Amino acid sequence: MAQTVETLAPVKQQIDIVTELPGPRTLALQRLSEDYEPVTFAHGQVPFGFRRGSGAFVEDVDGNTFLDFTSGVLVANIGHGRSKVMEKIEQMARDQEITNSYNFLNPYRPALARLLMETVPDYCADLRVGKAFILTTGSETVEWAMAMAIRHQGQTGHPEKKRIVAFEGAFHGRTAGARHAGGIEGVSAGYGMDIPDIVHTPFPDLYRPKQHADGRAYTLQDYIAGIQGIDAGSTAAVIFETYQGAAGSRMFPAEYLQALAAWCKRNGVLLIVDEVQASFGRTGKFYAFEHYEVQPDLLCLGKGISGSVPLAAVIARREIIASQGGMSSTWGGNILSSAVALETIKVLIGEKLTENAARVGAFMERRFRGMMDRHPTLGDSRQMGLVGGLEIVTDRASKAPNPKAAERVVMGCYRKGLLLIEPIGLGGNVIRIAPPLVITEDQAGVGIDILDGVMAQVEAE
Ligand SMILES: Cc1ncc(COP(=O)(O)O)c(C=O)c1O
Repeated sequence: MAQTVETLAPVKQQIDIVTELPGPRTLALQRLSEDYEPVTFAHGQVPFGFRRGSGAFVEDVDGNTFLDFTSGVLVANIGHGRSKVMEKIEQMARDQEITNSYNFLNPYRPALARLLMETVPDYCADLRVGKAFILTTGSETVEWAMAMAIRHQGQTGHPEKKRIVAFEGAFHGRTAGARHAGGIEGVSAGYGMDIPDIVHTPFPDLYRPKQHADGRAYTLQDYIAGIQGIDAGSTAAVIFETYQGAAGSRMFPAEYLQALAAWCKRNGVLLIVDEVQASFGRTGKFYAFEHYEVQPDLLCLGKGISGSVPLAAVIARREIIASQGGMSSTWGGNILSSAVALETIKVLIGEKLTENAARVGAFMERRFRGMMDRHPTLGDSRQMGLVGGLEIVTDRASKAPNPKAAERVVMGCYRKGLLLIEPIGLGGNVIRIAPPLVITEDQAGVGIDILDGVMAQVEAE
C-alpha cells in the first residue's frame, strides 16, 4: 500500500542521513528536472528533493533529515510543517471553501490587509493609516511600488519626477522593471527591454569601498555626500533593500539610510523600501527598516509573509494608494494564500519569533565572529538577526572572493546534513545563513559546528 503522510513517523528533530547523498529518489528527480526544466532548477542548488519538514528540519524525498539554514529561500520564517497553518488548510478543504476569487470580496483578503496595516510600527504614522494591495510575488510588489510612486508624482503636480533611483548591487526580482531596478548585472544582461528611467547610485560598501580617482577609499561621509548628486528634480522615488540580500547580505550603515531618508523628505522624493526578504521578524525586528528608524512611503513585502504559499503585498501611504486605479490581479489576494498568511502572521506574533530571531541571531553572530579567529578564509561575517553572510576569501588582506571554496563549503555541509543555499554575492563567494525563526540556540550551534568543521577541511585541502 502506498505510504501516506498520516502513516509516516514525525519528522526527526535532528540530522539523520539514511542513504548515500544524493539518494536514489533525489537523483531521479534531478534527471526529470534536467530533461524538462531550466538548468537552474536541476543544478542551481545542492541536490536536495524537498518533501516535508518540521520546525528547523526538512526531510528529503529519500527520508534524510537535514537542518535547514535556508528557510526555503527565506520564506519559512515560522518553521516548517506548522500545525496551525496545516489545520487551516485542512479545514478549508473539508468545508469546500473556494480558493480564488479574483478581486471579488472574500473573507480573508481584506482581513489580511487590516492585519498588515496593524503591523506597521507606530512611529510611521502616515504609513500606518495607509492601505495594502495584496499580490502574489515580490517582483510584482516592486513593479507596483515604482509605478504608484511615478503616478502619484504626476497626479500631485510633478510629472517631471518620473525616474527611479536604485542601488548598485540591489536585487528586486525578475520581471522587467524589477530586473532593471536590480543593480546586479547578470540579472538583466541580455534580456533586453532597457528602462532608462531607472538609474543606479553606489551602495555604501565599507568592506570593499569604491575608490576615488586618486585611489583613496570612499568613507561613509563620501557616500553620504554622494546622495546630493542624485537629481531630485527628475526623481520620483528611491528604492532600496534594507540589507542587500543577493549581493551577499550587505548591510547599510544606519547613518547613510537616515541621511537618504532625510534627503528624500526634503526633496519630495518618495522612499520605497523593499522588504520582500527582510521583513516578518527575520532581522530581529518585525520590519528591518525599524533598525534605522526610517519611514517608508511604500513598502514591498513577500516571502515570510505567508511562509509556504505564494503571497506578497505593497503597503503605501493612503494618499499614494487611494488615488490609483487598475489594481487587480488574477491570483492577487488568493483566498488560500490570504488565509495562510493570516495564520502565519498570527503565529509569528503569538510565538514572539521576532524576539527569538534577535536572541539566536546574536548567539550566531558571536559564534561566527569567533570562527574568524580560526579561519583565515573567512573574510567577514555580517549578521542581522537570523540572516547573515559569511564572506569566503582567498585571504583577509586582499579580500579576493573565493567562490570555489564557498561552493565546496556548501557541498561539504550538505554531505553532513546541513542545508545551505548556493553561494551568493557579487563574487559568488558568500554563504547565506537563513534558518527558520523557530530555531533554538542548540540547533543553531549544531549547524555552526558543521560549518566550522567543513571550513577547516576546505582550508586544509
Ligand atoms: C529583496 C527582494 N525583492 C524582490 C524579490 C523578488 O521576489 P519574488 O521572487 O517573489 O518575485 C526578492 C526575491 O528574492 C528579494 O529578495
